[in-house]
Amino acid sequence: MDKIQINGGQKLEGEVSISGAKNAALPLIASSILVNGKTTFTNVPNLMDIRSIRLLLEDLGADCENGDHTLTVDGAGINKIEAEYDLVRKMRASILVLGPLVARFRHAKVSMPGGCAIGARPVNMHLTGLEALGATISIEHGYIEARTEEGLTGGEIYFDIPTVTGTENLMMAAALAKGTSVIRNAAREPEIVCLAEALNKMGAKIAGAGTAIITIEGVEKLNPVEIRVIPDRIETGTFMVAAAATGGDVTINGCVPDHIGGIISKLKASGAEVETAEDRIRVKGTSDIRSIDIKTLPYPGFPTDMQAQFMALMTVAKGNSVIHESIFENRFIHANELLRMGADISISNGNYAMVRGVERLQGAPVMASDLRASASLVIAGLVAEGTTLISRVYHMDRGYEAIEKKFQALGADIERIK
Ligand code: EPU
Repeated sequence: MDKIQINGGQKLEGEVSISGAKNAALPLIASSILVNGKTTFTNVPNLMDIRSIRLLLEDLGADCENGDHTLTVDGAGINKIEAEYDLVRKMRASILVLGPLVARFRHAKVSMPGGCAIGARPVNMHLTGLEALGATISIEHGYIEARTEEGLTGGEIYFDIPTVTGTENLMMAAALAKGTSVIRNAAREPEIVCLAEALNKMGAKIAGAGTAIITIEGVEKLNPVEIRVIPDRIETGTFMVAAAATGGDVTINGCVPDHIGGIISKLKASGAEVETAEDRIRVKGTSDIRSIDIKTLPYPGFPTDMQAQFMALMTVAKGNSVIHESIFENRFIHANELLRMGADISISNGNYAMVRGVERLQGAPVMASDLRASASLVIAGLVAEGTTLISRVYHMDRGYEAIEKKFQALGADIERIK
């Protein structure tokens, strides 16, 4: 298994380009199930999770073709309605095929995604949402089965808490339902807006995406189109924090500053200089990082997917920082690895971390536990004295394209050890 080795201490300097967003690309690719023809996606990141969803669609019968950061999916040949355990267990986001399959074929069977390192992550709201659209749901032998004799019908959906993939699944299902559906307390992430715009380009009638109430007027069919994946706001934030943590000066190109208002505000509050242009951000770090408190929240609140990276920054800040993880119940596993590097962190009530800034971190062998945890260990390795060796980097390869090459180009001493 590959490892990442980092000799810390370099200030990051230069320019980096952001890839397409994994969490936008996954639902977009799943949406091609709704189309009886070829959908082409551009700016697709080259990532393990994208290969996983491609394999899943191919297993269902779709014909997929990759180009340079493009993926064409011809959904005409889909003739299987079952997403198997072996494919779903590799990536929870596989649940995104459930809505489109039942909308198109009136019947879908998807292996129940299990828990994962960051929490239990149930999918109950996806299922009650489908029931509101007239599907009958059963769970048997580890599989979710959704059926509807007459096809889905428009309905009223209310989420107890905003769910990102739940909102996406239901938007896709409702796009082909008979009648009008309303999703209340919908997630408002930029990835939701990207999917709604893509579906509308295909011929859907969706209004309100990006707000808490989304209205979907069902249509008979969707048409093949070309869709560009939006830039990855979490990759953008990760490079911003790495620039700030190393006291560097980095310009991040091809991003959308408007998608990361919370990250920009918090980074400025920690003392970094942040300049934004239309599709560019420049971050200049300081040797005097100030401690700040963070609470993760659904968008436009501070993203849980940036919590681990900010924790790495706070380990070397002056003062104490309280980090409250309010989305997932077990998303502090990286804290134990940061402790091995000399950080001073204590966790209370499971979802509060107190980070007391230390003078410096020390390189150490550490283990990545999930995708964003791996990014926080890279940031910690970049600021630490000496060598950090990160194992289980397959977590990172799920969601960061060529991360070590991008950091090398900014002057980091980082390499992948095969
Ligand atoms: N939840 C339920 N029931 C449900 C669905 C969600 O209780 O039916 C709970 C979850 O357990 C969690 C909260 O609702 O406490 C929000 O979870 P959400 O459903 O929004 O998460 P998700 O859709 O499974 C997406 C991203 C995650 C990101 C979260 C939160 C994708 C493919 N995944 O997950 O991304 O952390 O939203 O923003 O879009 C990552 O990229 O590293 C990652 C984990």
